Amino acid sequence: MPSHRRWLLPLPLLSAAIAACGGPFPQSTLRPRSDFAGAIDVLFTDIFWWAVLVFVLVEGVLLFIIIRHRRREGAPTPRPTHGHTVLEIAWTLAPALVLVFIAVPTMRTIFATQAEAPAGALRVAVVGHQWWWEYRYPDLGVVTANELYLPAGRPVAFELTSADVIHSFWAPGLGGKRDVIPGRTNRLVLRPDSVDTFLGQCAEFCGASHANMRLRVMVVSDLAFQAWVRQQRASAALVPRGSVAEQGEQAFRRFGCIGCHTMGTMSNALVGPNLTHLGSRTTIAGGLFPNDSAHLARWLADPPGEKPGSIMPNMHVPPADLATLIAFLRSMR
Ligand code: CUA
Repeated sequence: MPSHRRWLLPLPLLSAAIAACGGPFPQSTLRPRSDFAGAIDVLFTDIFWWAVLVFVLVEGVLLFIIIRHRRREGAPTPRPTHGHTVLEIAWTLAPALVLVFIAVPTMRTIFATQAEAPAGALRVAVVGHQWWWEYRYPDLGVVTANELYLPAGRPVAFELTSADVIHSFWAPGLGGKRDVIPGRTNRLVLRPDSVDTFLGQCAEFCGASHANMRLRVMVVSDLAFQAWVRQQRASAALVPRGSVAEQGEQAFRRFGCIGCHTMGTMSNALVGPNLTHLGSRTTIAGGLFPNDSAHLARWLADPPGEKPGSIMPNMHVPPADLATLIAFLRSMR
């Protein structure tokens, strides 16, 4: 490349950087949708502009000095500055002041986001598992997995813990990344401000399928939330006698699924997710795949193949039984 074209070199980098700003970014923290996320966003923006101010000042003075005092032909050697008390005090005080401007709002945000839950907050217990999320609503008698339903506008008091290793609960649009630690209960309080579906994921390396430990938060209207709670509290769907689903119900027993999963009144095991209302979820396998027959078939045929390290083993279910199992699971709404 001729030397006068060298300035073109950074162009591909620059265009890549600009292209990266297009979106959509379903896990962006820069579009806060809860009081918690909003507080962090304000803090970020404040500190960002303080940093811009410092950058412009420092670089401005640096450029000015470089140009003003550049070497000139025949100019005398500059006199070194030594022990200038005013200068030394100034460049000690200025950074200290900058730190105060950062520290005060930071501390205020920390205290605001660690505050006690207001009265009437919806209690949700979050339990991290390798590799899926369990949600319990202790006051509502609801237990579900991976897809968390919250009513818009109501404060939520999360109590987070883990059944095995350290995970981290993170739905960026709603703020709050909180570690989920075995033997300890961490707290997180936030109020989602509007109806939407938020994507999130485990944010702490927790083993082979850490990247497959996804979550969804469905923030819905109060009415829709009440309807969802009614549906989740209802007993398991009735399986018609003589149907394919009934054969699937028997297969569910025969292949030992009841040893790990709660399913209505049939079983109450707690190793894997509660499947009583699996048919009402949009995803399966820790939020990895859409909840449809094709993905259920792939998943049931070889769980560790679909989600490396999966505790659910390959049960070598024959295809005929697989079809009945899928019919049964899909009917559990
Ligand atoms: Cu759970 Cu990473």
